[in-house]
Amino acid sequence: MSAPNIETIVSLAKRRGFVFPSSEIYGGLGSAWDYGPLGVELCNNVKQAWWRWMVHERDDMEGIDSSIILNRQVWRYSGHEETFSDPLVDCKECNTRLRADKLELRETPDGPQAACPHCGSTKLTEPRPFNLMFRTTIGAAAEEDDPAALAYLRPETAQGIFINFNNVLTTMRRKIPFGIAQIGKSFRNEVTPGNFIFRTREFEQMEMEYFVRPGEDETVHQDWIDYCHNWFLGLGIGADNLRLYEQPQEELAHYAKRTVDIHYRFFPEREEEERQWDELMGIANRTDFDLKAHSKKPEDAEGKRLNPDSTEDLSYFDEATKERFYPFVIEPAAGVNRTVLAVLMDAYTEKVNDKGEKRVILKLHSELAPIKAAILPLAKNKPEIVGMAKAIKRSLQPLMRAVYDDTGGIGKLYARQDEIGTPFCVTVDHQSLEDEAVTVRDRDTWEQERVKVADLREHLQSRLQVACHI
Ligand code: GAP
Repeated sequence: MSAPNIETIVSLAKRRGFVFPSSEIYGGLGSAWDYGPLGVELCNNVKQAWWRWMVHERDDMEGIDSSIILNRQVWRYSGHEETFSDPLVDCKECNTRLRADKLELRETPDGPQAACPHCGSTKLTEPRPFNLMFRTTIGAAAEEDDPAALAYLRPETAQGIFINFNNVLTTMRRKIPFGIAQIGKSFRNEVTPGNFIFRTREFEQMEMEYFVRPGEDETVHQDWIDYCHNWFLGLGIGADNLRLYEQPQEELAHYAKRTVDIHYRFFPEREEEERQWDELMGIANRTDFDLKAHSKKPEDAEGKRLNPDSTEDLSYFDEATKERFYPFVIEPAAGVNRTVLAVLMDAYTEKVNDKGEKRVILKLHSELAPIKAAILPLAKNKPEIVGMAKAIKRSLQPLMRAVYDDTGGIGKLYARQDEIGTPFCVTVDHQSLEDEAVTVRDRDTWEQERVKVADLREHLQSRLQVACHI
């Protein structure tokens, strides 16, 4: 099973310290969320798993970490200043601002018409483009409206990669095909954010730009689609809750030749099957659009430079064939926050114990689990037991995230760890003082086995590794 809806995860996330509404003590800030002690561990584990899979385990990959605020020209030549907008409409009845392309149609005597989801009115203004980039000004003396000081918070991490293409190529002595990966925050002034961490104005992306010879792009694109799909399966997400979605021509971004999205079933409660899915990741063939757009060389028919502001040419010289060309780019782009939401929803299960009580178990892949082992003393008023449990916790913590907890009876402590996805609970009891052994309890099966304290590190490590097959 998986979570019946996002609301179930919102409540679990808040109750157990994964995600809190941001600025809550001041009434909150629409669709902004803070990651709590468990949420930050989960996010870090998602990012580490992606980085290991994308960068460390391949031979053709480098990583970078570029600035969030870039020279404004980057966004001019990437096309974002001109085209990175959503169509905006206002409801004339209740004044709500809405995204015109996300409205549902309602039957009216004049045929189907877009309707306001808040008051149901079909009286809407004409759509107008609304640029999604957050604006800011640079420098202490800058006036609010000084165009020379205008800058943007990046709406994607990708452009920081394109403008560093030559730097990485030459310093790392790379030849195509190769890729550059980056993880970092992006910002979009979304018209209608919502659905918890699914759509927010500040979010985190895991993007990679893979540079290939034109002509080889289509095959490589297909390979990356399959490869990324398998990554999500490897994270433990159920195949039935993932699908590939071929973007139709009219949905493609200005730079894309073909884009396939990986969708997750974020809205299982919706009756209409088609409306249950939304984007987890996009895998685009960006052609040579970006490298060309940021290059000083290309000229129009009259010999005028298309980009008079760039100081570099980002074309590639192939030593073997003595050809110069602009590489094509295949871009797998995923959201950290949407991946976190998908793994939480997919891991959610309920089980009834022998007393007939419902228990929530978060069957997270152990590589993603925020805490790997919880060390629990059976009697918190017995100093020898407490001392032994704390010593075990300390011996484990250089290797894995381990916690000590004595704030309840053992049944309650197990239930709490199940609900936050901890793969193993280690219980220290009276017997432990005599036989130097502890009970290791498995989150998913609730089976228990006795393990010698001396063997515990190795035992847990090997069981965690067996489960970590991504
Ligand atoms: N460089 C290409 C690019 O940015 P995108 O499809 O707009 O493509 C990639 O974004 C991924 O970033 C999405 O698949 C999604 O997971 C995540 N994402 C985009 N906008 C988001 C938002 N407002 N809130 C949370 N995640 C978002």
